[in-house]
Amino acid sequence: MKDIRNIVILTGAGVSAESGIDTFRDGGGLWEQHRVEDVATPEAFARDPDLVLRFYDMRREAIQTKEPNAAHLALARLDREWEGELLIVTQNVDDLHERAGAKRVLHMHGEHLNAWCTACDVRSPWTGPLLDRPACPECGAAELRPDIVWFGEMPYRMDEIFEALEQADLFVSIGTSGAVYPAAGFVRNAREFGAETLELNLEPSQGTAWFDEARHGPATALVSAWVDEVLGL
Ligand code: OAD
Repeated sequence: MKDIRNIVILTGAGVSAESGIDTFRDGGGLWEQHRVEDVATPEAFARDPDLVLRFYDMRREAIQTKEPNAAHLALARLDREWEGELLIVTQNVDDLHERAGAKRVLHMHGEHLNAWCTACDVRSPWTGPLLDRPACPECGAAELRPDIVWFGEMPYRMDEIFEALEQADLFVSIGTSGAVYPAAGFVRNAREFGAETLELNLEPSQGTAWFDEARHGPATALVSAWVDEVLGL
């Protein structure tokens, strides 16, 4: 660990699972309850906007009743105490990393607590429903959509993510199945750029073979122990 200065962490739904937020692909997960094609594509939104808005209104309401768990808190402590570069790239659209106190967080798949106005292209903080077609606080148009990256859309801030991966000495993937690209490819990108790679997940992910090391178990236990290790506690 002594040569590690720059760390990039990728988190997925598994990091929020113990806070009571459903993952996507585990048994009973969100994509077993709903078809991606019905709720998570631009075509679905064009076809049946009420269905899509209702789906995200429910999720937006639900995450506000959840609390960060020990894994979020451990990553926030790492963010506070790590003097080198650190970037927490999250696929999660909840705000539990931030509520735990983490600052260096990048939401590559968007955020439930933002609304995106397709008329003026401004994103505004948003906690309530969108189904009733509220006016954009910026321009007044009733054209707000969830600020969520749907299938077929480009994840956010890819240039910044690749810059960080290029500089990384250590890449750690936490609580993600490795099923969705481009995030699933970051481990290979990081390796090519010369980083060490570590997986922390409940079970082997689809990309587990690409990691130098993989530890399997619940995020609350694994992440807390790993952060202690990194901080030399
Ligand atoms: P998935 O549901 O695909 O994977 C969650 C992973 O977390 C699985 O590998 C589980 O084994 C693991 N897991 C479950 N509980 C855990 C726990 N307590 N501790 C540690 N690991 C645990 O979720 P993601 O990989 O995040 O995209 O999914 C990626 C993207 O697919 C999401 O961002 C979302 C989805 O479609 C969009 O909505 C754009």
